[in-house]
Formats: sequence, C-alpha cells, structure tokens
Amino acid sequence: MNILLVGSGGREHALAWKIKQSPLLTRLVCAPGNPGMAAIAEVREVRATEVARLVMLAQEIAADLVVIGPEVAIEAGLADALEAAGVPCFGPTAAAGRLESSKAFTKAFADRHHLPTGAYRICDDAASAKAALAHFHPPYVVKADGLAAGKGVVIAPDRPAAEAAIDDAFGGGFGPAGARVVIEEFLEGEIGSLFAISDGKTSMLFGWAQDHKRAFDGDEGPNTGGMGTYSPAPVFTLDLVEQTRTRLVEPAFKGIAAEGAPYRGVLFVELMATRHGPKLVEFNARFGDPECQVLMLRLESDLVPYLMACATGRLHEMPKPKWRDVDAVCVVLATQGYPGPAEAGSEIRGLDRDFGPEVVVFQAGTSAGPDGAVLAGAGRALNVCATGEDLGEARERAYGAVALIDWPEGFHRTDIGWRALAR
Ligand code: GLY
Repeated sequence: MNILLVGSGGREHALAWKIKQSPLLTRLVCAPGNPGMAAIAEVREVRATEVARLVMLAQEIAADLVVIGPEVAIEAGLADALEAAGVPCFGPTAAAGRLESSKAFTKAFADRHHLPTGAYRICDDAASAKAALAHFHPPYVVKADGLAAGKGVVIAPDRPAAEAAIDDAFGGGFGPAGARVVIEEFLEGEIGSLFAISDGKTSMLFGWAQDHKRAFDGDEGPNTGGMGTYSPAPVFTLDLVEQTRTRLVEPAFKGIAAEGAPYRGVLFVELMATRHGPKLVEFNARFGDPECQVLMLRLESDLVPYLMACATGRLHEMPKPKWRDVDAVCVVLATQGYPGPAEAGSEIRGLDRDFGPEVVVFQAGTSAGPDGAVLAGAGRALNVCATGEDLGEARERAYGAVALIDWPEGFHRTDIGWRALAR
C-alpha cells in the first residue's frame, strides 16, 4: 500500500514509525514531515492546510490511504476534498470535525445528545463573557471557541485573572479562534484521554492515556498542548472505560451521524473522572499529541488495517486491537518560554546516540539545519519515549535518555506519571 501521512509533529512521527512496521506498506510519504520523519520515510514540502496540493500529491503517489494527523487539516476540509477525489482517508470531514474545531458547537452538541459535561456559557463579546463569570465559581475556565494549537484555554484562579483572559481573547490574543469564547465550569477530578475509532457506522475503543497539560512540575504553570503522557493510566478503571464508552463515545458517534456527518477517524475524548462518572472536557478529532506516542509504543496490532478499515467502512471486520503488556512513558522537551514566546533555532545535539533498549525519540517541532543539525522550533521539539515492565522502569529509561540529550535551551517536566506512582 502507498500511504500519505499528513502532519509534522511528534504525533505524526509516532504514526509514521508504527506505519513503517506494517508488512502491508509499500511506500510512505509524509507532508510536510520533519527531520525525524525524513529519516524513515519520504517527505514532501506541502503544508497540512494546502488541501488542493495534498490531493494532487495523494494522486501523484497513487495513495491507497491518506492519514490526517493534525486538526488544522481537518478544519481545512482535507477529508472532504479527498472523498470528492475518491481517495480513502482516515480523518473526519470538516463538518464532523466541528467536534474539535468549535468548542461552542461541542457544548451545544453535548446538550442535544445528553452527554455529561460541565455547565457553560457561549459569549460573543467581552462584556457578556465578564457578566457570565457571575454564574461560575473559581477557578474560571476561559476557552477560545476555535483551534488555538493547544493554547486556547486559560484556567484563571480569580475574577480579575479571568477578566484579563477574556480581554486577551477578544483583543486577538488567541488569534481568530478567540472571536467567540466559552466560559466553562471547572470540573473537579482526574483528567484522562480516551480514544475511539469509527468508520461512520461501527466504532471501537483504541486505547487510553493520561497527559500532563501544565508546563511545570507539580501541575503548575500555564496550560500547554501536553508536556508528557503515560499509558496505561490507572485512572481508567474498567468501570470508567465502560461508562465513557456508553455515555460519551457511542452517543457522540451516533449523534454526529444523525446530524448528517458520519465520523471516520479517531475521536479523542478528553474527560474528567468525577465523583459522578466521566464528564466531557473536550472532544478532539485526531489522536492526542503526545498521547499518540505512548499508544503507538504499546500497540501490538498492525495499525494500517485499522486506519484503512475506518476509511473504507469495514471496521466491523476488524478484531479489537491488541496491546503490549508494558507501560509506556513520553517526556516532552520544549524550548524554554513555551507555551509563551520562545526563541526558535537552537541546536539539539546528541540525537544520534544509542539511547538503549525500549527507547524511541520522536521529533516534533524541529527543522533541519546545516550539516545535519537538528534545530528546535519555538515550542515542543522532542518526545522522549520508553516502555518498561512497569511505569517505574519506563520512566527510568525515558529520563535516562533525556539526560543524554544536549540541549541547554530546552526544558521538560521531571514528574511525568506522578499521579499513577502516588496511588
Ligand atoms: N495532548 C492533548 C492534545 O493533543 O490536545
């Protein structure tokens, strides 16, 4: 099979790494990819939002399947364009992808289909958003409605901070994503990331993990796209998984199909495990980043038949995926300053060394410098991942590998997996 993989982050590097292991694969092309992906696949300089060029590329390489990594490609309508061109695609249409691309749509969708979630108010200007705060208690959750690369959520400890976040959003601080804002109830509990795949008719659970969203140790600092993950995560008891499947996953797939937009791809349910069961925090229309990295390390089954079955309506023919009986950890290394302003272009050294057994280093926001140098972007740059017999062993291997990387301009959390170890 010829496969075109769209995206350039750590999630896509992990998908490429796993797809490469498939005996079904003939040719893997990544667009635009990154230096890590270029080491294992062909890369082409086409951005994830260049829909027409991506369709042409898929046709040029006679792609049997296109796999969409990032949400921006979904919002841009890549799946719709591929469907029109007759190219099988793993990734939802823009209409189904509104479950991620509009937080306001998702909250109203949750109401329409009786999905448990927190209270909310949708606000189109700063005055109504500030007035809406009166209906909530601190901490206040202020969210940009649209896609903001994981930076569109502020958890404000008090009203002045919430009002500042509202002014920032309507002042353009989140870009166009912040032209509408959702004020949400802060949900108490433990956060979890659960994944389910669907071909529009059949759905199947596809693993779970826990992410660390705050920038610094002890879950301090600003929200990020995710600073590290581990899987399996003990928050996901059998009961929580089952409740999430019946209360969130199945009603979501049924609801979006009933609204005329059957879902083909992976749905990422970010949930809060509360005293009253799972509550929806957000849906995302793609694999989590860096959740995907630990899932790919643990997935024993060949990934490609699942992606193809979702794209072609044949998921009912697939058995449940098999998972390796290991723990996996991912530690994210980011440029100092992230998720705020950070300086791109510092060199990361030491990536060519042997990191030892069961360690894989995925590249995220990197670019190729002169003489084979790997340069960091202004955000998350590396995902140092490892597996082990238990979480402790996986962590030790991952942090052992982090210590071998020479990058003074980077930072990472040192406590990935702390909730599981503290149990
Ligand atoms: N790690 C959270 C996300 O991918 O949105």
